Amino acid sequence: MAVRTWLRRAQRTALATGTTVVLAAALLVGTEATSQAATQGPCDIYAAGGTPCVAAHSTTRALYGAYSGALYQVRRGSDNATRDIGVLSAGGYADAAAQDAFCAGTTCLITVLYDQSGRGNSLSQAPAGGAASGPDNLAPATAAPVTVGGHAAYGVYVAAGTGYRNNHTSGIATGDQPEGMYAIFDGTHFDGGCCFDYGNAETNSLDTGNGHMEAIYFGNSKDWGSGAGSGPWVMADLENGLFSGANVGYNANDPSVSHRFLTAAVKGGPNQWAIRAGDAQTGGLSTYYNGARPNASGYNPMHKEGAIILGIGGDNSKASIGTFYEGVMTSGYPSDATENAVQANINAVAYRTASVGSFTPGARISLKATTACCTSDYVRHDDADTNVVISPISGSSSATDKADATWIVRAGLADSTCLSFESANLPGQYLRHYNFQLHVAAGDGSALFAQDATFCPQAGHSGQGLSFQSANFPGKYLRHYNYSAYIAADGGGNTWDSANAWSDDTSWLVTQPWS
Ligand code: AHR
Ligand code: AHR
Repeated sequence: MAVRTWLRRAQRTALATGTTVVLAAALLVGTEATSQAATQGPCDIYAAGGTPCVAAHSTTRALYGAYSGALYQVRRGSDNATRDIGVLSAGGYADAAAQDAFCAGTTCLITVLYDQSGRGNSLSQAPAGGAASGPDNLAPATAAPVTVGGHAAYGVYVAAGTGYRNNHTSGIATGDQPEGMYAIFDGTHFDGGCCFDYGNAETNSLDTGNGHMEAIYFGNSKDWGSGAGSGPWVMADLENGLFSGANVGYNANDPSVSHRFLTAAVKGGPNQWAIRAGDAQTGGLSTYYNGARPNASGYNPMHKEGAIILGIGGDNSKASIGTFYEGVMTSGYPSDATENAVQANINAVAYRTASVGSFTPGARISLKATTACCTSDYVRHDDADTNVVISPISGSSSATDKADATWIVRAGLADSTCLSFESANLPGQYLRHYNFQLHVAAGDGSALFAQDATFCPQAGHSGQGLSFQSANFPGKYLRHYNYSAYIAADGGGNTWDSANAWSDDTSWLVTQPWS
């Protein structure tokens, strides 16, 4: 908590003086602000193996030991200005503090993922396609905080509707040419929609037929294929099919995977392809499939077109969710040994979850009232309207009531050192105040929404639990009053600002999630 307060003060000072908060961000993750240049990045390893990268995207680090250019671009809501985010040193980690300083007090979206390969294969906002209109949404820049090599960094958080694409590439495999690719994903952020992909797709954003794609898919869609267990699975999106092995549909050798940080790899050449994956934090890659092209027409030979997609299907299907940290595509079919060396490099950089105080973004929680009236009551949203209230929840409550009282912790939309709370059963809708009353509402990308939906935890006013300070009304805290939820001052003009029981009403216990 002390670090957070210090950081917020440092950010305010930085805003006032125009200096950056490199030190503050480094302090947050307990390391120095300088970065040790990696001697080798994944793309150096692929090059040594004779299968060089022809696209290399990451918001967290350089993928070549010598890369010192921009990693990605953000655009802020307050004035639509853009800023390239680079590395702390050649071959090193993202300069997340530069993003924090540029985006302080407003919201930022990730507009471009630059191609580090020198081929100009950068990714930007995906256009409309055959399956869905466009342009697609852009990822909020602070929604996927991590640490990598001990440094704060941000991933690309793909909600349904978000997508990146490049339909005018150079050097990416076409036809039946061999290629490889890997990506690091958040293995706990997925769904069954079509299709959270990274890789090769059609250059016109249309479904042009079987074999016109070759991309890594991650999620638990069973619409085309599946593996063992209930998912999620790493599969290959080869167009009109997510393939878990040689068979259309089920292949027993493709296991469900659950790593928080997942390395997923797909490679394909003439009548040969493979799926490999592993825990990005530790250990090697396992081979889930290695063999001939699928038993279905149109996939041998392949008809790859060479566009690159992230977060969407080949025809811009965009019902899927996921999180991307880094990924590359190669020219040529990489050997298992080369991929194993890349996985060792990934292990060594140490992807870790970032925490905000005692909270881990992505975790599910429930918030329990502490006032004597209400010690069985939890913060929950209504079903008939958007209001947020407190009501008793117990083991015998309905599944809907339990889900209504469950929240997914997010790094604060307006301030990543604070918190936002996303409804567990209304994805994309956040706890926000409006006219000082709490509601659930979908983010509209505005700075005001981000602030209304950001709360900074501090020790509970009553001595119990935590109190949650409004980011844009620092005198007001998350409070229940007459069983409805507000932001309230300790004495003030609104009835819910009543000084009576204010300390208790603004003190909350963070509990295990009800769903
Ligand atoms: O192959 C699965 C999906 O089918 C592709 O991503 C999309 O283009 C099509 O709808
Ligand atoms: O809740 C107080 C203010 O009410 C919010 O900041 C704004 O969204 C609305 O006008």
